[in-house]
Amino acid sequence: MKIVVVGGGGREHAIIKSLKKNSEIETIYALPGNGGIAQDAVCVNIGAKDIDAIVDFAVENKIDFAVVAPDDPLVLGAVDALEAKGIPCFGPAKNAAILEGSKVFSKNLMKKYGIPTAEYEVFSDMESALAYLETAPIPTVIKADGLALGKGVLIAQTRDEAKQAVRTIMEDKIFGASGNNIVIEEFLTGPEVSVLSFTDGKTLVPMVSSMDHKRAHDNDEGLNTGGMGTVAPNPYYTDEIAERCMKEIFIPTINAMNSEGRKYKGCLYFGLMLTPNGPKVIEYNCRFGDPETQVVLPLLESDLFEIMKAVNEERLDEVEVKFSNKNACCVIMASDGYPEKYNKGFEIKVDDRFSAELYIAGAKLADGKLLTDGGRVLGITAIGDTLKDAVAASYEQTDFVSFDNAYFRKDIGKRALDAAKEA
Ligand code: AMP
Ligand code: GLY
Repeated sequence: MKIVVVGGGGREHAIIKSLKKNSEIETIYALPGNGGIAQDAVCVNIGAKDIDAIVDFAVENKIDFAVVAPDDPLVLGAVDALEAKGIPCFGPAKNAAILEGSKVFSKNLMKKYGIPTAEYEVFSDMESALAYLETAPIPTVIKADGLALGKGVLIAQTRDEAKQAVRTIMEDKIFGASGNNIVIEEFLTGPEVSVLSFTDGKTLVPMVSSMDHKRAHDNDEGLNTGGMGTVAPNPYYTDEIAERCMKEIFIPTINAMNSEGRKYKGCLYFGLMLTPNGPKVIEYNCRFGDPETQVVLPLLESDLFEIMKAVNEERLDEVEVKFSNKNACCVIMASDGYPEKYNKGFEIKVDDRFSAELYIAGAKLADGKLLTDGGRVLGITAIGDTLKDAVAASYEQTDFVSFDNAYFRKDIGKRALDAAKEA
């Protein structure tokens, strides 16, 4: 079997390492992959958004199955284009990926089908949005409709900040056409939980829950990033809350998409906030999270490829999806200065004593050396019987990986450990 994985970050590295456990798979091509992924897959220099080139490559190389991992190609219709050429895929079709591709779509869907989420208004012209903000409750949350590299959400603490946010999105177009429409929504509070799930449009199987750490610095300070670390499971996500989410959010979402003629197949990611009024949806993502995948897949005991095939063939109810009851922690090592300015091109050195999972996110190979090539450079995932063990083990392993301007948070898992103590 020959497989294509579209994408080239830490998430894709984790997906590829997991797929490799299946003995049916002979070759995995990563499009474009990266210098670290090159140890586990054949990297081909085709960009994740270059749908035509991805399809041509898959056809020419008689690819048996494709996994489309990032949001951009999914929203652009990579799965539709590949399947039109007879190549089965894991990932939602374009008309279902809109769940992440348009916040206006997802908010309206939730309202129509009674799925709990923050109260909101949609605006397509700036003057009405500014007028609304004269009386809107503060703090408030302003979201660009379309994809914005994970940066399209602005939380405003004052009315002036809120108006400024609307102007930068709708007038200055900092997110381009993604800001033609905006959502202004109620500010919610409570612990956040990421729940990734497998679904074939009929059955939905949640994966183990996780907690992301989005801010750049310790104590959740600094700018928002793609994610500086994760732990799984998330101690806030009790069995009772899980049951409630299944009934009030997960199943209703799948049913809603079916009712709209947009069957959802692939990984559906629920970004939840556990508010005093119950769990609510903050966002849907049409893909595996990054770096959530780097703690969730190492805990998957079942065969990822078997699950992906079953999702594609709409027989998810026939396969086993089993997670270990251990804990995982992933610490992201980034280039100092990320998510703003940073230097790159430093050699990544891994000591022989390193004994955890290493997922490379931003690196390239040059003269046989692995050099840093991005903001988030790599993730170190360790497994433990307890959350405390997993956190300690991943931090121990950071001693064995180095590059000149390495930066990482020192408190990944701290909030989760505090929560587990309180419980
Ligand atoms: P997103 O880019 O959609 O993941 O949003 C980034 C972050 O903004 C989320 O992880 C939340 O912490 C925060 N956020 C988004 N929507 C709200 C909301 N309605 N209330 C409070 N915080 C929010
Ligand atoms: N870690 C958040 C995301 O993948 O969107």
